[in-house]
Amino acid sequence: MSFLMSFFVIALLIIIISIFSSSSTKKTQETNVNGPPSYPLIGSILSFNKNRHRLLQWYTKLLRLSPSQTITIPLLGNRQYILKENFFNFPKGKPFTDLLGDLLGQGIFNVDGHSWSSQRKLASHEFSTRSLRSFAFEVLREEVETPDVGTTVDLQDVFKRFAFDVVCKVSLGWDPDCLDLTRPVNPLAEAFDTAAEISARRATEPLYAVWKAKRVLNVGSERRLREAIRTVHEFVSEIVRAKRKSLEIGTGQEAKQDLLSRFLASGHDSEAVRDMVISFIMAGRDTTSAAMTWLFWLLSENDDVEKKLLQEVEPLMSLGLGFEELKEMSYMKACLCEAMRLYPPVSWDSKHAANDDVLADGTRVKKGDKVTYFPYGMGRMENLWGKDCEEFKPSRWFDSEPGITEPVLKPVSPFKFPVFQAGPRVCIGKEMAFMQMKFVVGSVLSRFEIIPVSKHKPVFVPLLTAHMAGGLKVKIKRREVK
Ligand code: HEM
Repeated sequence: MSFLMSFFVIALLIIIISIFSSSSTKKTQETNVNGPPSYPLIGSILSFNKNRHRLLQWYTKLLRLSPSQTITIPLLGNRQYILKENFFNFPKGKPFTDLLGDLLGQGIFNVDGHSWSSQRKLASHEFSTRSLRSFAFEVLREEVETPDVGTTVDLQDVFKRFAFDVVCKVSLGWDPDCLDLTRPVNPLAEAFDTAAEISARRATEPLYAVWKAKRVLNVGSERRLREAIRTVHEFVSEIVRAKRKSLEIGTGQEAKQDLLSRFLASGHDSEAVRDMVISFIMAGRDTTSAAMTWLFWLLSENDDVEKKLLQEVEPLMSLGLGFEELKEMSYMKACLCEAMRLYPPVSWDSKHAANDDVLADGTRVKKGDKVTYFPYGMGRMENLWGKDCEEFKPSRWFDSEPGITEPVLKPVSPFKFPVFQAGPRVCIGKEMAFMQMKFVVGSVLSRFEIIPVSKHKPVFVPLLTAHMAGGLKVKIKRREVK
């Protein structure tokens, strides 16, 4: 009997959905000038469902069609917006922080309000110190001096390992040695990968209740997540304990340079410090590797750009790269920005409205609505970047064509290019990220020719941090000295 009941309920639902998706329902369609068709009760769920495997392309198309450059996607009473400005009025909100809360605890990346502002103050202070910057620079030099590359490698994987080593050394003062491919996979790196991936996939469940139920029952992916998080927490707690001890007995100066020592010195308890450093590892580990991987692929498709970049890099490399030389690399910066405009490491990012609001273009937002800004779509808008917005053209970042007059990088508003977000919550590691990427791209490019094995266009996967599907397999040849 109950089976029959379920059958009828399902049959009825299928009929309702079919009626809504047929064109005969035009009269029930609500006007939604800034988005896909919307119907009473179910909002835009039909269009959403039809496009859920190609959300990036769908959102980008809708965004181009929208006169206000905001799109509204009503989903069963929830609406999803693209935000143009004023990120600060919109905290991440509980639906977002729940996703990463088990892994990140009360760390800066995953909290709002007072807890966020006090951590932000401390972290911003430490990030602006010259001593942290020079420590990070030394870490880079050590890692790049000993590259372990064979003839064919997955460049994305190498950059990921590199970024993990660097962010662990800067955050914890500890080297997981992931770049050494002869060693077994580091358990912290592995647990971090698993935990980040499963936490991000929580967001793709059609109903949050599904992953929450799996968590209560401790089954499937939630069980694996719990185990991975335990590994991360135990590992980092052990490093925190050891660091606290070494600070108490007062070892050498270099022990105090990493973020962990700085956070401990500020008097926070061990669990708070553990969460703070885990947030930094999370934020700094896969973003730079994604950006550099796409840049190398784009360079392989654009010989003229690669040549220009080499012209800038080679003389500086022969002097030995230092802080000052990195600042001079303006064409390199343009190449990195251009690669991130087309393939942003964080392709979309959501907040939740704390109160009813009206956006600058008149779009109404209700308390609790999800509001998403969308760097991927914004990077491909003709009215922001011109008719050639789909092309890789680093020259667009200069006020004049490089080579003709003295090239000067244009100041570009972070609200037009929100790859590092914008406003008070802008990425804290932005300058460190540029330093790292300039150093690595410069070091690799000046020594090696990077030739992708496949001729196919790689696929962009927009998870929590975007990456290239299947990595970037490349042949590495030593560059001939001219
Ligand atoms: C190309 C590289 C990078 C990109 C594109 C990037 C992008 C971003 C974005 C979009 C956010 C905002 C996320 C949100 O609020 O949901 C963010 C926040 C953050 N990033 Fe980065 N990031 C990069 C590298 C780094 C690095 C290397 C570090 C540190 C070592 C770092 C540390 C942080 C931290 C701590 C936050 C949180 C700031 C806050 O909530 O106040 N990032 N980043």
